[in-house]
Order: sequence, then C-alpha cells, then structure tokens
Amino acid sequence: MGVMKEFNRDSLGFIERVHRDYGDIVWSRFLYVPALFLYHPNEIEYVLATNAKNFVKAMTLRSNFFQRLVGNGLLTSEGEEWKRQRRLTSPAFHRHRIANYADTMVNYTRRMTATWQDGETRDAHQDMMRLTLEIVVRCLFSADVSNDVDHVGETLKQLVKPFASQATLKWILNNRLPTPQHLQFNRQVKKIDEVVYRIITERRAHADDAGDLLSMMLKARDEDGSQMSDQQLRDEVMTLFLAGHETTALTLAWTWFLLGSNPDAEKKFHAELDEVIGEHEPTFEDLPRLKFTEQIVKESMRLYPPAYGLGREAINDCEIGGYPVPAGTQVFVFQWVTQRDPRFFDEPQAFKPERWTEEFEARLPRYAYFPFGGGPRACVGASFAMMEMILVLATIGQRFRLELVRDHPVAVYPAMSLRPKDGVKVTVRQKIR
Ligand code: HEM
Repeated sequence: MGVMKEFNRDSLGFIERVHRDYGDIVWSRFLYVPALFLYHPNEIEYVLATNAKNFVKAMTLRSNFFQRLVGNGLLTSEGEEWKRQRRLTSPAFHRHRIANYADTMVNYTRRMTATWQDGETRDAHQDMMRLTLEIVVRCLFSADVSNDVDHVGETLKQLVKPFASQATLKWILNNRLPTPQHLQFNRQVKKIDEVVYRIITERRAHADDAGDLLSMMLKARDEDGSQMSDQQLRDEVMTLFLAGHETTALTLAWTWFLLGSNPDAEKKFHAELDEVIGEHEPTFEDLPRLKFTEQIVKESMRLYPPAYGLGREAINDCEIGGYPVPAGTQVFVFQWVTQRDPRFFDEPQAFKPERWTEEFEARLPRYAYFPFGGGPRACVGASFAMMEMILVLATIGQRFRLELVRDHPVAVYPAMSLRPKDGVKVTVRQKIR
C-alpha cells in the first residue's frame, strides 16, 4: 500500500508529519507508484517553473471522471494543445478586460445580501459558493439573459457534488461502472453540454462582442488565424466553471472565519471600508485603495490555501536537489505546509495581514507562497479572483459584520480543495450608520 492508508486517513497531518520527520525532500510510494514530496521553495520552483517542461499534471488529474467534465480544457490539457489554448484564453483575463466584470460582482453580491436580516444565522461557506458560481456563470455568459444560465448553475452544483465526498478516489476509480450515481452524473453533464453548445451556436450567429468571457474566447484567433472549435470552447467553459468558483468561494469563507476570530483585523477592515467606500457602491476604481482588504485576502490564502497541494509527473529522468528522479515519479508540493513554514513566516500560525508589505514580498522566496501555483501553468484567473474576492468582501462588509456562531467548530476538510468541514456559521449584524 505504500503510504496510501496513512495519506487517506489524515492527508494534512500526514504531509506535515513527513516534513517534520524527514525534511524538505521525501521519497514515498502510493501502491506501486513512486512519489516525491517537496517542501522547499527552491525545489518547488524547479518543478513548477524552471524545469516545468519536464513535467505534466499528476495522474490524479487524468481520470475519466475529470475528462468527461472538463475534457481538454486549460486545466487538464498538455503540450502544444495546452499552449495554444492558453494563448487563446489569456487575453480574456487581462486586467483591462476583467475590469468589465466588477459591476457584475458587486451587483450579484448586493442581490444576495438584499434578503439578509439582522441577527439571522447563515452558513457563509454555502452563501459564498452560490455567489461565486453565479458570478462566474454571468461573467462567461453575460449576454444570455435566458433561464438557461440559471439552469447551468443549478446543474453544476449537483455535478460537482461527488468531489465533496471523502469517497472521491473510489468514485473516480469506479467511474466506468453504470451505478445510479454515475448514470446521473453522465445525464447532468449531457444537460449542461446541450445548453453550452446552444449558447455557442447562437453566439456564433451574432458576431458582436458582448464583452463577456465567452465572446472573448469566441473571437480569439491564433497566430495562424485559427479559432477554437465548439468542442474546445465547451471544454474551456466547463473548466472555468470548475476552476473559477469553488476556490474563490473557499477563500471568502475562510476569510470570514479569520475575520470573525481576529477582532483587531476585523475592526481595521471595517475602518478601511468606511474610509474608502463610505456610502457608494464599490467599484473597480476603489481597488487600489483597498490595501488592507487585499492584505487580508493574501494572508487568508496563506493560512487556508484552497489548492493546498499540487501534483506533477516527471516525463524524463531528472535530478531534484541532488537526488535522481526517474520518469513516472509523481511529485507533490504543498501550499498547506510551505506557506506555514517558520523559516519564511514569523508566527506562521497567526493571522497577520499586516505582514504583506512590499518589502516583505520582495524578501520572500518566490515559491514560499504560491496559492495560485506558478510557472507556465499558473492560475489564469488570478487577477479575476483577487478582484472578485476584494469586491465581494467590500460589498458585504460595507453593510454587515459577520459574527462567528459560538460553539460551532470550524475544521479543515481536505477534499478536492480545502473546505471548512461543517461550513462557517455566522450571525449577520447590520452595521449602524
Ligand atoms: C482564490 C481563487 C483561486 C485559486 C486559489 C486558484 C488556484 C489555482 C492554482 C493553484 C492553479 C494551478 C494548478 C496547477 O498548477 O496544477 C490554477 C490554475 C487554473 N485556474 Fe485558478 N485559482 C483561483 C481562481 C480561479 C478563477 C476565478 C479562474 C477562472 C475564472 C481560474 C481558472 C484557472 C485555470 C483555467 C487554470 C489552469 C491554467 C493552466 O493550466 O493554464 N482560477 N488555479
């Protein structure tokens, strides 16, 4: 079994223990598959950036299950195909283009909080999940006002459920079997496919730029003039749904938890909002002045990185930190451990947004902090996500304080991404003006 059992029983405890007991470079094995755990920024940089061309995504990402959902989208494709897709998709995420989405982000947040009552108890994790899904669906399909779009959101919620269960691995391994769950999964993917393809066909018929992510991807031309096929567009749309909402929602949920547990930081957060936003609706132009809110988000992703580990597979034999690494080795790096390493962060377990000064960032080894990954496969949506998280926090925080419900334990649950086990229960307090 190698370390399979220990890893499955308590993945976070296991990867911490291994680092403590064996150091920065650790050999291991899952069943018959050799695995290497790397904890030091130098080696992390080597795998993700400097020698990235010798690595593909780890085998865990190559399951049928994943394939059926996101096909050959950016997250999963490799080689020339990935390069072309990245070239075609990146422009849609440039800073000046994503500015258009700021209003959507604020409006949807406002719509969510419109029904909030002073004193009511809510689950901030669930609220943030719903919100970020609506936002990413709208940013992709802003021009489509049909119910179809809401329908996509609803179906997606059902679809990603299997990821939530501890049994993910089993689910993935068994996904060729025609069990009721798998049949239902296939039916739901088909339903979304139909809607997405219909929207693509309609958009192709009307060539005008709707300003949303889909039109940008539809318009994008490669150097040789070629464009994305319907299938590629579909795969990218599904990838953006999947990659673009849970990670953001989790950071927001963890941030509410951290603010609720750190009264000084929370006070400073509200003081910044009062000063910068006051009574007006938050806008894109406010972002550069929401400095402390940005520091909060960075610190939140340090302590609770939604992507708490990344995996790669070596294509050819290579050498890492002086050790020979044969082709086929699965290499893992863990934001969860390295971002709490006392060699790089003083009081590593403490929530200290103030640490994120320009001088500190300039001093920090590049791969001591990598919530968005790094190198060529770094998150394409990082600026989009930062903008979204800051605007959502500002829009909610402008009118409300979220007080943690006492006696509701918040524990980490490492599923596909790092979730709060039983949500983040909060009492909503309307701010008095
Ligand atoms: C807090 C929010 C987010 C976090 C922490 C996050 C994290 C990451 C990480 C760590 C990777 C690299 C995976 C690897 O190297 O194996 C990644 C890739 C990716 N992310 Fe994000 N992400 C976030 C938000 C978003 C958003 C909002 C979008 C899109 C709307 C997005 C789209 C993608 C895509 C398409 C990739 C694949 C890029 C490629 O391989 O070329 N992400 N993300």
